[in-house]
Amino acid sequence: MIGQLDNELGEAREAICGHPAGGQRLSRSLLCEFALTQWGDSVVWVPMLATMRDRVNNPRLRQALDANLRCEAGVDALRSHVTLCRQFVMSLGLQPGLIPSRTRLGGYASAMTDITPLLTEPQIAGWILASESLVPALFTSVIDQFRQAGADIAYLVEHISVDDEEHAQWMRKASIELISTGGGPAFGQILFGARLAARATISVLDTLYALSLGE
Ligand SMILES: [Fe+2]
Repeated sequence: MIGQLDNELGEAREAICGHPAGGQRLSRSLLCEFALTQWGDSVVWVPMLATMRDRVNNPRLRQALDANLRCEAGVDALRSHVTLCRQFVMSLGLQPGLIPSRTRLGGYASAMTDITPLLTEPQIAGWILASESLVPALFTSVIDQFRQAGADIAYLVEHISVDDEEHAQWMRKASIELISTGGGPAFGQILFGARLAARATISVLDTLYALSLGE
């Protein structure tokens, strides 16, 4: 069953890597909007993980969420991902408030993130597994344009290297364990959560592409 999940994540990764938005020359205003979308995501990620972590019972999933949470909040690191994201946004000349304003790119993803308190334990595992697996591809598709724009890309670099290698692997192990105890129904829920996260990630590029065509 985990093979089917791996295949679907692979297909979603290919959709992101081959997305036409990645081949577009993006305007500075769209780059800023993408960065602010990441800021909104970054600010909400810590409370989202915290509420998820407190709701799950599976020890491995709980441990994986806890480790992810510590990483986002910078408990064991010099700087939190939230600070890295703020520096990324500020390097583009923006002053992000702690309560982020909604962006056109993040509308669908925000709506999806907003319903995460309703997710079941296996759905949480799928949601985080797909999110962490696909963020590196998303950031890879735009990183060169931010580098050329002179942005501080440490936030993007950190996620390209850490999310897929560490965070996603923790969630994959937790998912395998949930499937071994919960069987087919648990797998179905993991797949559901993963598909929601994949749609949310791809929606950012879909909207970015539409907006770039209109400029
Ligand atoms: Fe992060």
